[in-house]
Amino acid sequence: VHRPGGRRQAPRHKARGPQPGARADAPRIVAFTVLRAVNGDGAYPNIELAHALRDGGLTGRDAAFTTELVNGTCRFQGTYDRILAAAAGRALGTLQPAVVDVLRLGTHQLLGMRIPLHAAVSATVDLARERVGERVTGLVNAVLRKVAGADLDAWVARLAASETEPLAALATRTHHPEWIVRAYADVLPADELEAALAANNEPATPTLVCRPGVTSLDDLLVLGAEPCEWSPFGARYAGVPSEVEDVRGARIGVQDEGSQLVALALARAVAVPGPWLDLCAGPGGKAALLHGLARERGESLVAAELAPHRARLIDRALAAYPPPHNVICADGTRPAWLPGTFAAVLADVPCTGLGALRRRPESRWRRDPGVLADLVVLQRALLRTALDAVCPGGVVAYATCSPHPAETTEVVDAVLAERENVRRLRTADVLPDVPGQTGDAVQLWPHRHGTDAMFLALFAVD
Ligand SMILES: C[S@@+](CC[C@H](N)C(=O)[O-])C[C@H]1O[C@@H](n2cnc3c(N)ncnc32)[C@H](O)[C@@H]1O
Repeated sequence: VHRPGGRRQAPRHKARGPQPGARADAPRIVAFTVLRAVNGDGAYPNIELAHALRDGGLTGRDAAFTTELVNGTCRFQGTYDRILAAAAGRALGTLQPAVVDVLRLGTHQLLGMRIPLHAAVSATVDLARERVGERVTGLVNAVLRKVAGADLDAWVARLAASETEPLAALATRTHHPEWIVRAYADVLPADELEAALAANNEPATPTLVCRPGVTSLDDLLVLGAEPCEWSPFGARYAGVPSEVEDVRGARIGVQDEGSQLVALALARAVAVPGPWLDLCAGPGGKAALLHGLARERGESLVAAELAPHRARLIDRALAAYPPPHNVICADGTRPAWLPGTFAAVLADVPCTGLGALRRRPESRWRRDPGVLADLVVLQRALLRTALDAVCPGGVVAYATCSPHPAETTEVVDAVLAERENVRRLRTADVLPDVPGQTGDAVQLWPHRHGTDAMFLALFAVD
């Protein structure tokens, strides 16, 4: 079980104690800039970090250190904020937001990366001086010394001791908001719950995917990637995908195995000739795989996406394939096609993303359970459109990157209750080797399958 705490070496930019006027080091400045963009402007850390590392010219060990500083701080931010409030003896809302971000970075160095006290505190004080001002250095120094008075386990035990509800204490122990723990508890056996939550604290190894007809699994294996367990198109890659030329040229994609299995399952289930539709296709991971699989059978794929900037990303994902690329900007709830047009439709609907928490370190704290009600309305509308879009004999796949029952089985049950011409297909018939399929649908899990927690249900329309 991964937890913060592996000892890391701080970059050797300077080896000295606190000095008035000392300069902060480049990795911490970059990490601070990224964290400010994430917490101040709602930026995505992965995108912001990639730009900031490039702009700051950080590579190798410095890049790895900065990445861990940003991702670890984001992943455990909810826990760190509670620790900081206790250490500071005041609500964090009473502090300048930039100071809070400095303190969060210092806390992760002390509790998550176990950088020695003097190095973590002096470097963070230097950062505070340079980025916020001399006047806050005393406070940063004092709070971080209090934080360092206990290790992470001791802090978490102290916080959890005040929880009377077992699930609230589990949320504290596993660094999750309580509502997410409750959603997991609704769908998992009690003895798996802690392992499932702990898996979200384990950064995922990147998974590569070939582009059928352009590249093959062999092209991934020559890079040193390890074949995926169930997807014949994927391999896990311990390196940095963006440094691979074929990835930059879109001849190889980066895609979780769970997403590959969704596209594969639909392709295997298609029973009649005709074009295929990806209803919510941006940024285009599944669309690119489906495009390649459809093309091998002489069929075409239409990729629809509401957001123009995400539609442009689909174009980029399809770049290795010769035109035409049928990418359209369209609202999937207001079809731009006639009913019964397609032989296969994928509805990979917008969702809370609770199944991809290990890949998006900030998202568990940013997600608001209040969005669920609106999402469910949209998810049902999109599934209805998908069912209307297929011809008799056609197949629909409904997928979410969330295990929340409100977004998975409850959407499916509600929409199917309205229809008499729709049959559920067994996902196990098209993904026979994937374990843990009890009903008709499949729910993947990081702790069981090593994939994101994708949900997939398949339907045939008579
Ligand atoms: C879960 S993501 C799809 C991921 C994509 N299938 C892939 O594998 O790369 C859902 C997408 O649906 C888009 N979307 C949201 N509302 C939509 C609508 N009404 N019609 C079509 N697309 C929509 C979002 O912009 C987002 O890109």
